[in-house]
Amino acid sequence: MALPLVLLSHPLPPKWISALQGRVRLIVGPPDAPGFAPHLLELLGEAEGILCLLTDRVDQELLDQAPRLRVISNMAVGYDNIDVAACSRRRIPVGNTPGILTDATADLAMTLLLASARKIFSASTDARNGLWTTWSPMGWLGADLKDATLGIVGMGKIGKALADRARGFGLKLIYTDSRHQPDAGMRYGAEYRSLDELLAESDFISLHCPLTEETRGMINTAALKKMKPSAILINTARGPVVATDDLVQALSEGWIRAAALDVTDPEPLPEHHPLYDLPNCLVLPHVGSATEGTRRLMAEMACENLLAGIEKKRLPNLVNPEIYKS
Ligand code: DGY
Repeated sequence: MALPLVLLSHPLPPKWISALQGRVRLIVGPPDAPGFAPHLLELLGEAEGILCLLTDRVDQELLDQAPRLRVISNMAVGYDNIDVAACSRRRIPVGNTPGILTDATADLAMTLLLASARKIFSASTDARNGLWTTWSPMGWLGADLKDATLGIVGMGKIGKALADRARGFGLKLIYTDSRHQPDAGMRYGAEYRSLDELLAESDFISLHCPLTEETRGMINTAALKKMKPSAILINTARGPVVATDDLVQALSEGWIRAAALDVTDPEPLPEHHPLYDLPNCLVLPHVGSATEGTRRLMAEMACENLLAGIEKKRLPNLVNPEIYKS
């Protein structure tokens, strides 16, 4: 019997996807280009499974070309690239990779917080460029962490993991979330605030919310103006949570002290974008989960989800359980 056809949007190391061997017929897209390559789109009519990345848009138009599709497995915890409602209407299960990238992403958020507080990027660049002429009492002065307030927007797994790390640096913690979560206060020493209160009180603001219609553009001119002029904004969640042009203006005009971004809108941020030229902005190419161990686990979990869907079993990490309700 012919093996079910699965489209893998971008190549992954064979060791990471060894579970698929002999169980599906895999057609793989090219590396280093977002979206589904034309030769994959041509095969949608036969495809029974899709294993994709956060850079691949799965929408109604794509689903309409894929009548045999039984599962979509996203190798990411976030799934804003997928029209989940459209998948649910077709009763196609969507899988994601929660949990396993929590530590790597929280580590990166803490790295960005420390790097921007202590001006690591500009100090290192200046040293290389010959501007380190003497030990300077006033040079490269950063922000203190001890007793400063960190506001965490989104107290899910990653927000909590950041809280754990930040406590070790003596930061005071506040958080906002659609749920109050009294355990956050008890376990992490974090107090609940409304978003406006958090913006006004925080010295550091770290975003850990999903991208939804509610959070898109949430950090806009109005929100940035509520922050302290000394505030530092960290985004390891999704780029469009922050209104890019508003942030450029805020950083250029000193409404806030600095920003450190692992995610941007758009992605990739084009060459010569004004954010790259701002000395108070640090930009990384979406590397929150980029450790060897984490990416391998993400790929393995994505394969488990995919195979479950192909074999008509419930996905271990299912985004749309409503498809099983009658
Ligand atoms: C995710 O999984 O959603 C991350 O953004 C990828 O690191």
